[in-house]
Amino acid sequence: MLVNLNQVLNGVAQDKRAIPGFNVFGYEDAIAVVKAAEELNAPAILMTNKVAIEHMPINYLGKLLCGIAEDAKVPVCVHLDHATEYEVVVKAILAGFTSIMYDGSQLSLEDNIKKTSEVVKLAHACGVSVEAEIGAVGYNDPNLKIKAVYTEPEEAKVFAEETKVDALAVAVGTLHRMETQDAIIQYERLEAIQKLVKIPLVIHGSTGVTDEDLEKLTTYNVAKVNIGTALRMAFGNSLKEEIIKNPKEFDRIKLFKTPMIKVQEEAKNKMKILGL
Ligand code: G3H
Ligand code: ZN
Repeated sequence: MLVNLNQVLNGVAQDKRAIPGFNVFGYEDAIAVVKAAEELNAPAILMTNKVAIEHMPINYLGKLLCGIAEDAKVPVCVHLDHATEYEVVVKAILAGFTSIMYDGSQLSLEDNIKKTSEVVKLAHACGVSVEAEIGAVGYNDPNLKIKAVYTEPEEAKVFAEETKVDALAVAVGTLHRMETQDAIIQYERLEAIQKLVKIPLVIHGSTGVTDEDLEKLTTYNVAKVNIGTALRMAFGNSLKEEIIKNPKEFDRIKLFKTPMIKVQEEAKNKMKILGL
């Protein structure tokens, strides 16, 4: 069934579990994630990012993902990841997304509060949940001119109270798009944040987090852990192998079979590590 982020995250952190938010780009990875969730009888969060909505119009993605969610045997949230424009948020809500991440992390604190609050006002009136970011989780790509700033606990408190967001992404040592698991988590900072912020916390860039740290994060007030690169690697690396093994094959449905299984296995593996 289709649900919003609040419904998925309700009580999760208290149970020492966390729900992975997986970046998906189409039918193949979305259905693989939902099958993994169904195997574990766990909720799922399907997230679409900027790259996905540049590739496929957001209303097509909304229909596809909401269709998959409605037919699922487990609760599934359809989430827009890293939205930076109000217009895109409006389009996502109209397309059926049940959750929005507004990313004002590159703005000043004042502007981030102002823009995030506008999104919260609209989204909450439509029954849609909102995640936002304070501090800025950087990218493992020196060509991207995106600032990375660790989250200051006091700022996180003010931000959460003023914006009334449902979940808060914090920067405590992870980086987006890491291909190896060697992020160093600042647990003292996380601890200080959770003393002041009572809403569920979100960790982005979690492909780079070790299995041990993923498990440890569930003992904090972390309820959502974003994972993108790990599934893209599972699909892409398997697809490359399939093409090499079957050089005469041109039918993509046949070539996609094993990569879809690999995505399902990787999603299930991360879910289990996170206590699902
Ligand atoms: O918002 C998406 C995530 O933060 C994914 O990050 O691709 O580094 O796992 P990742
Ligand atoms: Zn992210």
